[in-house]
Amino acid sequence: MTAPAVPWDRAGAAYDFRGDAFDLNKPGDRELVRFVLSQALYGEATGVYCGKSLYAASTLEAARFYVRQARQELNHLELFADIFRTLEMEPMPAHWVIKLLSAHNNYYPLKVLMEHAIGEGMVLDIFKDVLMQTLPDSDPRVPEIKKKLAVVCREEEEHVAWGEKETRRLLAAQPWLRHPYYGLLLLQLAVAPVVVRAFAGRAKGHPVLQHLGGFVAFVESRVRAQGRELGFVPERDPGVIVRWACMLAGALLFVRSQFARSRSVLEHSYLRELGFGGGSSPAP
Ligand SMILES: [Fe+2]
Ligand SMILES: [Fe+2]
Repeated sequence: MTAPAVPWDRAGAAYDFRGDAFDLNKPGDRELVRFVLSQALYGEATGVYCGKSLYAASTLEAARFYVRQARQELNHLELFADIFRTLEMEPMPAHWVIKLLSAHNNYYPLKVLMEHAIGEGMVLDIFKDVLMQTLPDSDPRVPEIKKKLAVVCREEEEHVAWGEKETRRLLAAQPWLRHPYYGLLLLQLAVAPVVVRAFAGRAKGHPVLQHLGGFVAFVESRVRAQGRELGFVPERDPGVIVRWACMLAGALLFVRSQFARSRSVLEHSYLRELGFGGGSSPAP
């Protein structure tokens, strides 16, 4: 399916809200911002999953990345808490879809694709596009908030880049992964819009919510382009049977991933990793 045309910015890398913003003095708008920020806060709290990723890291590079990411995500958690306090808002529990999409996966090939490349990629869409554009600069509290968000966005870009780098490496070593990867991307794209469905009825006439359809289409289009660039989304959409087969392969791999055990590797590979020539091969 081809996504409808959406108003991209010059670089085609961000959705353009055309200056439409929330009014932080209106109770309805404050509730919407509170909802978005609450999902972000939960997502940042899942940064503690980096502990499991560090435990299972098979290379020194991966271990270094997860130590750094853990520090950054915990910092993001506190930055979002500061934003809640600045706006005098109380967080609400996360939506079930956010909990599902941000769940930890012990199976490394799915972790790097679903958590980092696609998951944190979508998170970045929300932070960079929705929050940075739709929080009103006219509100005196917003410039400080945007400074914090700029730090978060820069670091989330690093996390996405790591996921993309590892996804490329795994696809080169195990090309069969492209079929379940494609299926999982289709499944993620089917589930993610459920989060915004609750607001669809209020979209008409609201300056920000009227962009909902366009923004969802933009994210879908961007994620598909990302998958094409990574080499697992075909240039042309395959027929429905192939798509269903890929989704089945993705679902089966996901089920298999639920039985993957987290095990440490670095104590076997550390000699080679440190350049001493010893140690066994790391598991993917
Ligand atoms: Fe984060
Ligand atoms: Fe992140």
